[in-house]
Amino acid sequence: MINRTYIKDLSGKVGESVILAGWVDIRRDQGKMVFFDFRDMTGKVQCIVLPASEAITLAKEMRPEWVLRLEGKVNKRPEKNINKDQQNGDIEFSVNLIEVLNKAETPPFTVNEDTSGITEDLRLKYRYLDLRSTRMQNNIRMRDKIVTFFRDHMHANGFLDIETPIMTKGTPEGSREYLVPSRIYPGNFYVLPQSPQQFKQLAMVAGFEKYFQIAKCMRDEDTRGDRQPEFTQLDYEISFTTQEEVISYTEDMFIKMVQTVYPEKKIQQMPFPRLTYKESMEKYGNDKPDLREDKNDPNLLAFCWIVDFPMFEKDSEGGVQAVHHPFTSPKAEDAHLLETDPLSARANAYDIVLNGYELGGGSIRIHQRELQNKVFELLGLSPELIEARFGHMLTAFEYGAPPHGGCAQGIDRIVMLMQNEPNIREVITFPKTGEGRDLMMNAPSEASEKTLKELKIQIKK
Ligand code: AMO
Repeated sequence: MINRTYIKDLSGKVGESVILAGWVDIRRDQGKMVFFDFRDMTGKVQCIVLPASEAITLAKEMRPEWVLRLEGKVNKRPEKNINKDQQNGDIEFSVNLIEVLNKAETPPFTVNEDTSGITEDLRLKYRYLDLRSTRMQNNIRMRDKIVTFFRDHMHANGFLDIETPIMTKGTPEGSREYLVPSRIYPGNFYVLPQSPQQFKQLAMVAGFEKYFQIAKCMRDEDTRGDRQPEFTQLDYEISFTTQEEVISYTEDMFIKMVQTVYPEKKIQQMPFPRLTYKESMEKYGNDKPDLREDKNDPNLLAFCWIVDFPMFEKDSEGGVQAVHHPFTSPKAEDAHLLETDPLSARANAYDIVLNGYELGGGSIRIHQRELQNKVFELLGLSPELIEARFGHMLTAFEYGAPPHGGCAQGIDRIVMLMQNEPNIREVITFPKTGEGRDLMMNAPSEASEKTLKELKIQIKK
């Protein structure tokens, strides 16, 4: 809109006539006058419509969430009405003209208050309204600040932002995977990635040396407060690195992020304490201990590292599975145990934990064919299956794969903890419900007969 002024800039324009565009927040009639709060993406301002104003008829008619263009003048508030704790608390906007750009139905819930008390299904069905509330706007805007910090920090340290495919092949990271049927190859499927793990390793084989990506990951697992079927990682990988380098790079990045984006927060201990997996299990009974000295302090951040994870664990069917993922290397001093007692072998794997949540994890990888093949064998894969699923990795390792390692952080969990929200849905713009549904779009939903026929898919009722 030409010549439109943003609400955040009004305080510098006292005495000037300007144009605003935005939404009616709340309206308060006071006798013949109308007061209302007006909102745009930069904040709120109190507006006043005097009885003599041309705008008074529309002002009496309009309702919350109507979209308006306003012409008026910025005035200083009378001394007694000044509210120092409020944005624009010392000014008001005297409206001369209202143009209605769009009317609005009465919303199913009030959006000018904190919506956390509203039934979540209703909030998610009308997410675009829920997101108008100040708290949700703030969460999404702070998420942008955090992600921007990470992106800038990665670039400043020589990392290259590389996109990796979403339609790909399975990557075993411990969860069920989402399949996308292929029309051209009926009966064949693309798999949505649980993480860019194999691609980032192949980017190391390709000689990029420092990769990062703000990556969408998909895992078909039961949703919880800190889990979504679709989530975002800050994913990175480095060639010729060591566990110590990945850990100290990551730690430094988190400290600077907090200092830059959340200067009011306090990190309990620096350098971050490190516990071995064994110590953590013995002392806290889990591998993501909450080390905060005061759990009621919303500004206290207790980071820690968990190191020396086991390579393998027993799965529910009595077989063996990788604790991190099968691309993780064993500690040099434990490598011989792969032959004799693999379940006792420790891995070059590390997790970073904050206030009782696993934020991220990574490892130094295997970069040699023989060792990688050995690990697949220990996981119970036949030579045929190894070739079919991972032949490309084994082949790549034969063409000068550098030693490499990396890490991935869960962006949603980071933002949740920084914003003191109880679950990650509060910091994801368009999340799924606890049951994995998108109530606004109504997904998942049935496919048409025609689509199914093209895909040669038959649904068993
Ligand atoms: P991992 O599986 O440990 O490692 O995932 C890394 C981080 O991603 C976040 N995360 C999730 N966040 C929300 N919803 C989920 N369903 C979900 N699953 C995981 C967590 C977790 O710590 N490729 C390896 C990383 C590596 O080895 O470099 C990986 O994905 O915060």
